[in-house]
Amino acid sequence: VLKGLQASPKYLQSKYFYDKKGDELFQEIMNCGEYYLTNCELEIFAEQTSSLADIIIQQHTDFDVVELGAGDAIKSIYLLRELVNKKAISTYFPVDISNHIIDLLNRKLPEQVPHLNIHGLNGEYLEMLRSAKKISDKIKLVLFLGSNIGNISLEDVPAFCRELRSQLSPGDMVLIGIDLKKNPAQILSAYNDSKGYTKQFNLNLLQRINTELDGDFDLSSFDHYATYDPQSGACKSYLVSLEEQQVHIGMNTEIFFRKDETIFMEISQKYTIEQSDEIAVQSGFIAVAHF
Ligand code: AVI
Repeated sequence: VLKGLQASPKYLQSKYFYDKKGDELFQEIMNCGEYYLTNCELEIFAEQTSSLADIIIQQHTDFDVVELGAGDAIKSIYLLRELVNKKAISTYFPVDISNHIIDLLNRKLPEQVPHLNIHGLNGEYLEMLRSAKKISDKIKLVLFLGSNIGNISLEDVPAFCRELRSQLSPGDMVLIGIDLKKNPAQILSAYNDSKGYTKQFNLNLLQRINTELDGDFDLSSFDHYATYDPQSGACKSYLVSLEEQQVHIGMNTEIFFRKDETIFMEISQKYTIEQSDEIAVQSGFIAVAHF
């Protein structure tokens, strides 16, 4: 946090959005009409469950599922049920940076998907994938859904995918949910919802810094600003300081803000199908199917 706030231009990492309040706000975003991503992906999982499962089972019939950034797992539940029915899944390892989410999944999933063996892992994606591989040496199906890959910049995504590939073994599989480029107005309104949940979601990170790092951000003196560039596919969120101000973090750190100075909060990168295949191939994967 300090590194980002002391940099020029200032930034914070969006992975820190997800404390308990952040999880709740993200849930509100996913339920609001403008945020189309969740329903689109849910539709794929609900309506194409058996073709999804068939393609996976054509490759292997006994494997673990590791879900990076599982959240409420609402979409994957369709696939998990199908894989349990087909007796293809050994253990489901949901990975999430929020321990609140992992607790919830450990409690709720046994009711939602009976007979599923669950092992929740709280931490960073690739570190937890390593842990899952240590716990079980079965073939892995990695799920990386919800356009979580969009929160990695275009510049960093090849290295992330190569690292992901290097941690996997021949035969392992990956299913990624990628948000495609579309009408720019539709994308922008998803990240600038009329009820202001996205604004609160961004401001909540300042609140989290206040609570957990002894900060004194005045949330009312920051506004939220979202932009989308249809050519690069980069949708970016910023917080804007509405006045010149000083913010303290802990006893010893003072951060100065000029009026209208921004903090870069998050990227939600959008792709074309061709771009997604290119990244797959360049990182050593074989693209098998699109849904
Ligand atoms: C989690 N992630 C894929 C969301 C996204 O669309 O980038 C986070 C989000 N940020 C604002 N709205 C939703």
